[in-house]
Amino acid sequence: MSRIFTHLGFLARSKSTTRLIPPTTSMDAVEVAETADILQVRSHVQYNTLDHITPDNVHPSPLEQFHVWFNEVRHAGVRDPDAMCLSTTTPSGIPSSRMVLFKQLDKHGFVFYTNYTSRKSKELEENPNAALLFFWREMSRQVRVVGRAEKVSKEESEAYFQSRPIGSQLGAWASPQSSVVGEDDLQTRLKQVYERFDIAEDAQEGCVPLPEFWGGWRVVPSEMEFWLGKPSRLHDRVRYLREEGSLSDEEPQWIINRLSP
Ligand SMILES: Cc1cc2nc3c(=O)[nH]c(=O)nc-3n(C[C@H](O)[C@H](O)[C@H](O)COP(=O)(O)O)c2cc1C
Repeated sequence: MSRIFTHLGFLARSKSTTRLIPPTTSMDAVEVAETADILQVRSHVQYNTLDHITPDNVHPSPLEQFHVWFNEVRHAGVRDPDAMCLSTTTPSGIPSSRMVLFKQLDKHGFVFYTNYTSRKSKELEENPNAALLFFWREMSRQVRVVGRAEKVSKEESEAYFQSRPIGSQLGAWASPQSSVVGEDDLQTRLKQVYERFDIAEDAQEGCVPLPEFWGGWRVVPSEMEFWLGKPSRLHDRVRYLREEGSLSDEEPQWIINRLSP
């Protein structure tokens, strides 16, 4: 295969054009080799974090450790620190992943909000095992979470729904998330929702009731891993495993180990 390498950034191909997305920092540079039927990417990102995590210097609770890391990445100006990848599976084990926004950490777990008739929610209803993944590239940190998802209370969903901008509230009513829709269906549905709740189309404020089909999920972790990028790919990995039988405990015990990168 003939290889054309470029250090200029990532080449995104659409049907008719090749668009160059410039790297935001020199660390973003990747080498690309492409022919008509293959695209190869090489990355030489070096992680040079000076921090060090070991089972001895992390918090005994992974939720507390997450809290510490989240505040650090937030204050460091990491982009979209609240974006996380959620993975679910069907009962027969077919996985699917998508990004959602992390909205709350409490002593039980991680909360996000969505449509309860969506693909992710249907999969969680049938198989509550779920995984979350955070990647904070500017700080070379990754956090993995494995756990079981449960619906949050209606009161919690109600309180969060009412805190959203009116446009987002109406959008939730209008979107039968994950179902097939026609090109104009959503705008038509949105218009109907405005009419139904008697909201002016240019309204900036207001509130509508929480839809029955919308609310939060809480992922209660049974395992978490904190990853810190280090030189030569010899990264730090610290894994917490919830001790057998302590899933419903108010103060679960955690076994903490260092893992090979
Ligand atoms: C950064 C980012 C954040 C997102 N946050 C949410 C969210 O909090 N809730 C949600 O339902 N969808 C969110 N989405 C859209 C989902 O990725 C997904 O398209 C949608 O939930 C439908 O997924 P499903 O069909 O697998 O259920 C987000 C997408 C991105 C890129």
